[in-house]
Amino acid sequence: MKRFMLILLALLVSGSLIGCKKKASAPAPATRKVAKRAIAKNVDTSLPGDPVAGAKIYARICLACHGANGRGNGGMTAADFIKDTSRLAKDNKVLLNSIANGIKNGMRVMPAQKGVLSKKEMKDALSYIRKTFGKKKK
Ligand code: HEC
Repeated sequence: MKRFMLILLALLVSGSLIGCKKKASAPAPATRKVAKRAIAKNVDTSLPGDPVAGAKIYARICLACHGANGRGNGGMTAADFIKDTSRLAKDNKVLLNSIANGIKNGMRVMPAQKGVLSKKEMKDALSYIRKTFGKKKK
């Protein structure tokens, strides 16, 4: 009887030890996902060109729709760069692509500038827009 109890005890102890081992191997925390998200928020809103040269281009082509104040006639003829702050919060690459290839949004059309302006001229025009309308509020 005593032997049987010892064997039973031994079995119980070894059983609980195996149980402990399983619990100890918890999965490592997912730190990589967090790091990736932080990088995605890193938007390039620097001036990609010369805003002084861009002012002339803006006056010649963009002003008709976007207006001298950058408000697109209350957002009717173009994007309102001041009220709709999400516009200039976009990456330079995204906005240069919009300028080059244009946007069609129902009745509102942003005409493609590819073939009209050189890449440098588009960068200059965007720089003028960023510098003039970028930091004002409302
Ligand atoms: C015929 C009118 C018109 C002209 C000319 C025009 N735009 Fe636009 N632009 C628009 C409209 C309309 C939108 C908004 C389209 C939309 O609803 O998404 C827009 C949007 C934009 C945006 C924001 C794009 C985005 O991804 O959110 C930029 C930047 C821009 N225009 C730059 C320019 C520049 C630079 C010029 C001159 C070289 C120019 N536009 C000339 C009508 C015009």
